[in-house]
Amino acid sequence: MEEERLVTPRRLSEDQGLEVGLRPRTLSEFVGQEEVRRNLEIAIAAAKGRGEALDHVLVHGPPGLGKTTLAAIIAQELGVGFKTTSGPVIERAGDLAALLTNLAPGDVLFIDEVHRLPTVVEEVLYPAMEDFRLDLLIGQGPGARTVRLELPRFTLVGATTRAGLLSPALRDRFGLLLRVDFYRPEELWAITRRAAQVLGVEVEEAGAWEIARRSRGTPRIANRLLRRVRDYAQVHGDGRITREMADAALTLLEIDQLGLDRMDRQILRTILEKYDGGPVGLGTLAAALCEEEDTLEEVYEPFLIQAGFLQRTPRGRVVTARTLEYLHQPPRKKGQATLF
Ligand SMILES: Nc1ncnc2c1ncn2[C@@H]1O[C@H](COP(=O)(O)OP(=O)(O)OP(=O)(O)O)[C@@H](O)[C@H]1O
Ligand SMILES: [Mg+2]
Repeated sequence: MEEERLVTPRRLSEDQGLEVGLRPRTLSEFVGQEEVRRNLEIAIAAAKGRGEALDHVLVHGPPGLGKTTLAAIIAQELGVGFKTTSGPVIERAGDLAALLTNLAPGDVLFIDEVHRLPTVVEEVLYPAMEDFRLDLLIGQGPGARTVRLELPRFTLVGATTRAGLLSPALRDRFGLLLRVDFYRPEELWAITRRAAQVLGVEVEEAGAWEIARRSRGTPRIANRLLRRVRDYAQVHGDGRITREMADAALTLLEIDQLGLDRMDRQILRTILEKYDGGPVGLGTLAAALCEEEDTLEEVYEPFLIQAGFLQRTPRGRVVTARTLEYLHQPPRKKGQATLF
């Protein structure tokens, strides 16, 4: 069910191909995340000034907020090569060695889902990141020996949606930690307008605003909703995205004014109705919703928490006063539950 959800921040097959064209290529085209941008600007300028490779960078944050985009921008701004791979793809130390020995000096190696690197690979990665050397074990048994390879200075850019799952040893080896956060509506508005321009769609200011505020703080979702609204406007109007067109299209898709969809409402209603508003443990909630714990935690919850509908407490998940208001429930009386 998660796979076909229009407002999932994870990449859907329909995003493929299109995302590449919509991706900002330089830091100045990248909207929002001011702190990240400022930090990067300084670090990149300093590294270029010294003629050195940039420190290793870890970008973390929820899906669809621009981690991969930033990695490509870093290479572009540095004017170096960009190689990309991901944690689960690198199964053995030899796979990593093949990647690292192919790098040119200064290149960026992007490892997506860096928290999923196998431990054996991580151990080979440490000296590569620190001293730019590889110690590889060749052969087995008594004849086995270690060979040392010198590597060019490179920049590792790691991305993860789960910084908490990264081993502390790996985390410590990144010089620059960048956290991407949900975007503000006005930033999503700018992103929507830019995407419309790239796609050659005419969008009115108020139409872009309707899309922006229903995009759950996530550029990937803004881009996806824009494409759906474009289709609707083409079939039901003259192709121009007005406020009315955007509203009608998104309402038809059951995405409400705040960007919540049917699954969000089901989550909130389940906690409220089955568990009296919580606290309810993640496992119990996942079972009640027939959803995986990981998906619930990584995909659904961050936005609900950020938007003030849900709280994580040591005893479990609880809905907030905002949820009661949203679901048209009377506010709780004092003493009825501990959290309100
Ligand atoms: N700051 C931004 N300005 C404009 N567009 C953006 C921005 N950030 C992301 N996007 C758009 O959103 C899409 C998704 O971004 P990206 O693939 O970089 O996210 P991600 O954080 O790597 O996601 P995941 O965790 O799923 O890998 C991009 O194709 C791009 O079009
Ligand atoms: Mg990515």
